[in-house]
Amino acid sequence: MTGLRSQAIRESRPLFELRHSFVIRHSSFVILIMPTDSSLIEVDRLVRKFGDRAVLNDISFNVHRGDTLVIMGGSGCGKSTLLRHMIGSMKPTAGTVKLFGEELTGMKERELIHIRLRFGMLFQSGALLASLTVGENVALPLLQHTDKSDDEIEEIVEQKLQMVGLTGFEDLRPDEISGGMKKRVGLARALALDPELLFSDEPTSGLDPIMTAVIDELTLKLTRGKGMTAVVVSHDMTSAFRIATRMIMLGHGGIVAQGTPDEIRASSNPEVQQFINGEPDGPIPLNLSQEEHEHHQHVKPRPFVTARHRFHRKTP
Ligand SMILES: Nc1ncnc2c1ncn2[C@@H]1O[C@H](COP(=O)(O)OP(=O)(O)OP(=O)(O)O)[C@@H](O)[C@H]1O
Ligand SMILES: [Mg+2]
Repeated sequence: MTGLRSQAIRESRPLFELRHSFVIRHSSFVILIMPTDSSLIEVDRLVRKFGDRAVLNDISFNVHRGDTLVIMGGSGCGKSTLLRHMIGSMKPTAGTVKLFGEELTGMKERELIHIRLRFGMLFQSGALLASLTVGENVALPLLQHTDKSDDEIEEIVEQKLQMVGLTGFEDLRPDEISGGMKKRVGLARALALDPELLFSDEPTSGLDPIMTAVIDELTLKLTRGKGMTAVVVSHDMTSAFRIATRMIMLGHGGIVAQGTPDEIRASSNPEVQQFINGEPDGPIPLNLSQEEHEHHQHVKPRPFVTARHRFHRKTP
């Protein structure tokens, strides 16, 4: 069912294809040429520094409509940071990010809202609101951005929770469900507005292999079946190769490798082979690089002693 508000939002969407297409008039008929470049996301020479350290250094790639891009790479290499730039919640030190053909860099919060309505985001932590129930968390985007009735919202929430295998958990609070369940509630919430684009930060971490397969099936149904575009960060290679149409491996601040799943599988890069085969020995360092180590040495220490002091005071 479509509320007036969401209908209005849909109608106000920039017609990307139309704006970038052109028309050839030929005697009595008109030929509409559709664009060859159907990029939904364009990341161009993106640099992100924290202090002196460039976590992302000159990253460029495009994501095309209908693709499922899996971003992989070692812990701390900048995957979540890259996603945050792709949704406009972090600003680059240099370079640009375009979503749906619109430049995010420099956009004000108010301008970002209409773009945010077009994509869903599952955060690595789940990012559920602790004071709301599972059902209320999933309902949140519908309450904020549509004028649907309570009955309609209830129906959608039920449907989204069913998609992620959580029927009947509506009334529990986040602290009453497991880590893997929180992830699935986060996914149900990210899908609440039926987005055309989904960003998902490790959607299957903490899930057992069967539930991982269920979530992968859901991703495939929405992408291959319904044309949704997805950008998924994943460490889980079984899941990654199941859902990806394209893959990018990050490392050393840059793109170590990118291509189709077959190209990545066949890569002669030893770092890629070590990563996709999960081997402990290889070129990927286990410890922080000297540069990373130095960066963390310079981070202002947190008031640990204060916390310990408080803890001791409270202990009888
Ligand atoms: N707001 C911030 N301020 C300072 N440093 C940050 C900030 N956000 C991220 N970093 C640093 O950027 C690096 C990359 O972090 P990020 O969370 O993107 O890694 P990741 O690849 O998602 O790791 P994981 O696989 O463990 O989730 C880390 O060294 C982190 O400390
Ligand atoms: Mg991360």
